[in-house]
Amino acid sequence: MTNILVTGGAGYIGSHACKALKAAGYTPVTYDNLSTGWADAVKFGPFEQGELSDRDRLDQVFAAYQPAAVLHFAALSQVGEAMRIPEVYWHNNVLGSLTLMQAAVHAGCLKFVFSSTCATYGDQDNVVLDEDCDQHPINAYGASKRAIEDILRDFQRAYGLNNVIFRYFNVAGADPEAEVGEFHQPETHLIPLMLDAIDGKRDALTIFGTDWDTPDGTCIRDYVHVCDLVDAHILGLKWLEDEKDSRAFNLGTGTGFSVREVIDHSGAVTNRDVPILEGPRRPGDCTKLVSGSTRAETELGWMPKRSTMDQMIADAWRWHQTGHYEK
Ligand code: UFG
Repeated sequence: MTNILVTGGAGYIGSHACKALKAAGYTPVTYDNLSTGWADAVKFGPFEQGELSDRDRLDQVFAAYQPAAVLHFAALSQVGEAMRIPEVYWHNNVLGSLTLMQAAVHAGCLKFVFSSTCATYGDQDNVVLDEDCDQHPINAYGASKRAIEDILRDFQRAYGLNNVIFRYFNVAGADPEAEVGEFHQPETHLIPLMLDAIDGKRDALTIFGTDWDTPDGTCIRDYVHVCDLVDAHILGLKWLEDEKDSRAFNLGTGTGFSVREVIDHSGAVTNRDVPILEGPRRPGDCTKLVSGSTRAETELGWMPKRSTMDQMIADAWRWHQTGHYEK
């Protein structure tokens, strides 16, 4: 079986990717430092614990498994934290990714799939966010991801490190079989926080700002199901196997939901009240992030299957009620 190195394979998206890789006939080799991931989430292939910045450890792992490609999920990804301690984002995300790319090139592993973000586009009102639009990140999280995209382009030119860049919009939902799911500690994301408020694990969900320039005053995001998102990664891998040119793709559905709309859907799907509070804006947030591109559909053949808001909430709710990890 073909080994694929999955950095961040113990995390939310990485663990779903490992499940999809195994189902597609690959062996996912998780490389993770467990700083935000969970050993319990590594269920579909071998686990190697290590830091992205540890070049010797990376060289060992590349030598031991001879992976055909890297899927690079490992990153710090909280906008609020990135506003408070930007140096940690530059160090961990940029230096870590640079070291990983150097190790991949050294090992002759020249297929690289990178998890980037719509946060690289920044807050661009009335601009259609397609892959060719300018990237003006407004927080260190988005800036660190844009920097890694730049390094990848340089490494492609200099060393032939062929790559697919995926710019995620807001990832939500969970494995329908609830083998893996979203579990951050601390949790900062809207849907899991709301499910906690719905079943009394926290008092209320605080809406971060009700005075944004949107129809109902709350921020608008484009939510995509984690299973659809990882399906795109399998297609990205095949794109590289077919020796197509390095390419960036947005992964979103093109439909925006405001925070209040997500709350309404959550109440309806769970048939429970959502206790809410109205709070101030969260620093680093953008008004609206919605994908304006269908490149992933037209060029990769990607077809989201579970990315309706109700399905994402239903799958997240099932996981929320049945699954969790232990340290
Ligand atoms: N929100 C609340 N209350 C909360 C949590 C979130 O109102 O308690 C709002 C946020 O202000 C935002 C929306 O819900 O408007 C979604 O927030 P999330 O924290 O769930 O996700 P982000 O929009 O911050 O996502 C951004 C980028 C993604 C990136 C992610 C990483 O858009 O690309 O940060 O955290 F992956």
